[in-house]
Amino acid sequence: MSEKIKFGSKVGIIAATVGSAVGLGNVWRFPAETQANGGAVFLLIYILCIFILGIPVMTAEFALGRGGNSDAIGAFRNVTPHRKGWWMVGALAILASYLILSFYMVVSGWTFEYLIQSVTGSLYEASATGENLATVTGEEQLFQNRMAEYITGSYRPLIMTYIMIAANLGVLVMGVQKGIEKMSNIMMPILFVLLVIFCAVSLSLPKAADGVRFFLSPDFSAISPSTVVNAMGQAFFSLSLAMGILITYSSYYPADTKLTRTAVTVSLLDLSVAILMGLIIFPAVMTFGLADHQLAGSALVFITLPEIFAQMGGTQFWSSLFFLLLTVAAFTSTISLAEVSVAFMECHFKMSRIKACVTVMLPLFVLSAVCSLSVGPWSGFTICGMTIFDFLDTVATNIMLPVGGILLCIYMGWIAPRSFFLKEITNNGTLRSRSFALVAFIVKWIAPVLIAIVLIGQFI
Ligand code: PFF
Repeated sequence: MSEKIKFGSKVGIIAATVGSAVGLGNVWRFPAETQANGGAVFLLIYILCIFILGIPVMTAEFALGRGGNSDAIGAFRNVTPHRKGWWMVGALAILASYLILSFYMVVSGWTFEYLIQSVTGSLYEASATGENLATVTGEEQLFQNRMAEYITGSYRPLIMTYIMIAANLGVLVMGVQKGIEKMSNIMMPILFVLLVIFCAVSLSLPKAADGVRFFLSPDFSAISPSTVVNAMGQAFFSLSLAMGILITYSSYYPADTKLTRTAVTVSLLDLSVAILMGLIIFPAVMTFGLADHQLAGSALVFITLPEIFAQMGGTQFWSSLFFLLLTVAAFTSTISLAEVSVAFMECHFKMSRIKACVTVMLPLFVLSAVCSLSVGPWSGFTICGMTIFDFLDTVATNIMLPVGGILLCIYMGWIAPRSFFLKEITNNGTLRSRSFALVAFIVKWIAPVLIAIVLIGQFI
């Protein structure tokens, strides 16, 4: 097998993988899901899902990736060359990650726009039409109008999306070590420092205790089957499982990387970001009387949070820091989503790094533009009653992701030799692994069933 490029350090491995996992899923999806599913009880079930489902499936994906030593398709082919057809699970993952990338890039463009508008202060100033906090019925209305005005505009969201595509391309062409690893080593510590600062500020707000209570003291009467289904779905989304990302990144792990330990570290760091976000959001919404406001989707970050910043001292400063945090979180995730396809181009078409990166990123200038315009000037055009943006989001994250997850578990549990899985977990027999039997059991029997429940659960 040809010499494959590897990450250069242990810190780099964790930073890059956590960078992929920590994204919009932690920052806006998690607080919204927590609010919609009864608060602390959702957090509790989510934590259980991370341990029961997330860590074992992540370990399996790492084993497949490092042992397969290729891209998401090549890994299946290398591990079981005689089992034809399983490469299609990798192909599904590559396709899904690319579709997700096309709209995730648009959202990362929005976050970048809000960063710029926070730094310049224009987000909080009167608009060209003279609309400001005094002329509309309330702050919610103002920021709702601002967001609608911006997102439905035609050219500015496109420019921002293109800037993000170009920035991603810039990092990707530098390669795995000098691009992805170096960027993650710089960005992830910044992200954690920003989170801790925000947490300290939020916890010192007057009604912080109410927010913490909602987030941390469970009301067990709020548990329903949908709480469990949503918590499992969130765990999958947040840990970037079954997207080919972890297969691709772990193919860059050196032979001495401890896979189970890495999966535990990455999952716990991802969980801690979600918990920090909860400790930031809920005290703030309680203090500023916004507990009944929608936190779902883009409303939290583009409407509710600017409302909060507008009421705080140092509006522009805090707003800039927050959108910097969000842009960083989104950026490290888009890089990982794109790397799945870049690795595929390099491995299968033997392309140079530069050629592979350009081939992957160029079509995004069209695909992401379509996604961006589909929530703006083209919003009248719908598929199954959804804009193209929402349609891609639904198909990729609600259907392709769980289907890929089930197939991945079936593959690692039933098709790939158990000896292969054990060899990877124990680094060729040099480590003792007390947890292997449990991990293998979960991947074989429990995870496929639970993921199937998530898949079916969202349709009933
Ligand atoms: N895990 C990242 C997040 O939580 O935002 C990014 C991500 C990757 C989300 C892949 C979804 C996905 F399918």
